[in-house]
Amino acid sequence: MMTVENLLSQFRATGVQTCFHNRHINPQIYADLNGANWRLRDYESRGGYQALRKILGKDGGEGLTQDQVIATVKESALRGRGGAGFPTGLKWSFMPRQFPGQKYLVCNSDEGEPGTCKDRDILEFNPHIVIEGMAIAAYAMGISVGYNYIHGEIFSAYERFEAALEEARAAGLLGKGILGSSFDFQLHAAHGFGAYICGEETALLESLEGKKGQPRFKPPFPASFGLYGKPTTINNTETFAAVPWIIRNGGQAYLECGKPNNGGTKIYSISGDVERPGNYEIPMGTPFAKLLELAGGVRGGKALKAVIPGGSSSPVLPASIMMECTMDYDSIAKAGSMLGSGAVIVMDETRCMVKALQRLSYFYMHESCGQCTPCREGTGWLSRIVDRVVDGHGRPTDMDLLDNVAENIQGRTICALGDAAAMPVRAMIKHFRSEFEHLVVHKTSMVAAHV
Ligand SMILES: Cc1cc2nc3c(=O)[nH]c(=O)nc-3n(C[C@H](O)[C@H](O)[C@H](O)COP(=O)(O)O)c2cc1C
Ligand code: SF4
Repeated sequence: MMTVENLLSQFRATGVQTCFHNRHINPQIYADLNGANWRLRDYESRGGYQALRKILGKDGGEGLTQDQVIATVKESALRGRGGAGFPTGLKWSFMPRQFPGQKYLVCNSDEGEPGTCKDRDILEFNPHIVIEGMAIAAYAMGISVGYNYIHGEIFSAYERFEAALEEARAAGLLGKGILGSSFDFQLHAAHGFGAYICGEETALLESLEGKKGQPRFKPPFPASFGLYGKPTTINNTETFAAVPWIIRNGGQAYLECGKPNNGGTKIYSISGDVERPGNYEIPMGTPFAKLLELAGGVRGGKALKAVIPGGSSSPVLPASIMMECTMDYDSIAKAGSMLGSGAVIVMDETRCMVKALQRLSYFYMHESCGQCTPCREGTGWLSRIVDRVVDGHGRPTDMDLLDNVAENIQGRTICALGDAAAMPVRAMIKHFRSEFEHLVVHKTSMVAAHV
């Protein structure tokens, strides 16, 4: 039986910072970081705030209109880095700019998806890139107030972001009349409490309002009814961090860094059975095999068995499929999974997939907010079935039952956590059914049993 205690006991904090390894390819967000150069002066020496100056006409140029900024972001083919991959420029164009009341901009730094640890490195080691990206977004959408909602368990990132905000305010890069222009933007940090569900954008808004973090029914979408019922645009930390480069270098240049429909670079958090786990920033469309090589290959020279390519919510893919994929939204979707948040979980030949699923299912049961019956009841049911298979009490019908319960959760819930709980189950059964069957018949795993 999986308990919170034995789950937590298996985590080991290494204290190693994950993005200082010079193994990125053409990095834009992690370029030239060393852990100490996060301050305003360091960021400016890397070209920081030039994009904000450019749009405000403070670099000797004419400045960019709101429409021009949005058109540039659309041209760049930047897609949301929080999980869904929604085109950012298109999202920005949904904001009703002429709305007469308050409008809000929100950054989603909740980063709770298991496997994902990229945003915390951005906030700690390059916080001004997020501030600049948000200021540009606020300008483009005519927004004067923003919040960055930061995950409750990474207090250091919150403190660092607060320190960077202070620097930006003191330098006239935030607040009233930014850089002597007529553009006002107040930006605040908000501290979450560590609930996975608060990363879902409407649960995040509820939490920001001081309420219990539970997702809202959609529609209405945040663009029309967001924070305090006002038009709101929410993007992920990495999404905002991509924006200054795009404005400085142009949408076309960003697009060309990646591949059509998948512009720019993407940060992957690689964990599991690799020699060098960590965050890797590489161009969209880079082969998975290259990413694996950057991460030092499979640990101990073992064979690759499976990969969860986009965080725990994304369906697992067997090695043979993964090795043919490039790392971008379209290629991974075509292969039957999702690029998600870019958390790549690598599993070698010794991993028991039933035990891996046991951990995932326990997580989703624990994190379900309980509002909708299929998710509240279904996630617990899935977890209990996988528990009994692992414990040697599985029934021959359990694989079909798991698939059936998951099928009945999928698409029948208020938010995507239900799908996130269901999809890994269905993918595990689809690709690794024989491991489940072996456990049911022989009461023991067909591979080394530890995960
Ligand atoms: C259960 C759940 C958890 C989520 N967690 C996060 C998260 O931690 N960070 C994030 O940026 N997006 C998260 N999302 C996605 C957000 O709802 C939203 O799509 C995203 O913040 C939009 O930003 P983007 O367009 O820049 O990706 C989550 C979604 C769900 C359903
Ligand atoms: S799907 Fe799950 S997490 Fe999402 S609202 Fe329903 S019960 Fe809550």
